Amino acid sequence: MIKAYIFDAFGTLFNLDNRLLDHIKHPSKEDILNYARSKQLSYTWLQSLMQSYQAFDQITRIALEDGCKKYDAPSDLANALSALYFKPIIFDDVLPTLQKLQKKSKITGILSNGTHQMLRSGIQKNGLENYLNVVYSADDIGMYKPAPQVYQMVTNGLKLQAKEVLFVSSNQWDVAGAANYGLQVAWLNRHGAFREAITMKDNVREIGKCVDVLM
Ligand code: LAC
Repeated sequence: MIKAYIFDAFGTLFNLDNRLLDHIKHPSKEDILNYARSKQLSYTWLQSLMQSYQAFDQITRIALEDGCKKYDAPSDLANALSALYFKPIIFDDVLPTLQKLQKKSKITGILSNGTHQMLRSGIQKNGLENYLNVVYSADDIGMYKPAPQVYQMVTNGLKLQAKEVLFVSSNQWDVAGAANYGLQVAWLNRHGAFREAITMKDNVREIGKCVDVLM
């Protein structure tokens, strides 16, 4: 039986939607953000392989600054874009899902590469404080997902077995990492992407909407 429902943050609960870019006028703003998104991810893996660590807000910042260089944008655009990571909106299906889980007395939480400051800021902006029981940040152990130690923070912290935890993420690499550690995993596929081989495991199921975690 699943006792705790733990969610990835960026891209799963938190949405850095293009609407947030409306006040930024640079023509390459979306390209820079997309470039930074993929670099941010590869920089976390690079840090892991180098057995080194830089916090996620710093990594994000570096990726955005590189993006500004690549697209010949002024470097202060990186300030405006990096601020987005502290004020994301949430996807429409998030709050109803957390409310339903709370009604069923389930434990709910976040496990993210983001720092506590980033996570707290997104939680507060979207009024989620009362719907999340725990927040785990990779920053606490100076190691990034998909290292098993990061997912282990949940089972250690909640004193639960891996099979009693459902981890929910829209990132397939994150799904693969959580499944590798042994958690039950829901891959939240909001946009009908194809399922990559790395997520083809018995402990992974695919869902189309956040609320489907309850099925
Ligand atoms: C997170 C990013 C990686 O951990 O989605 O929140």
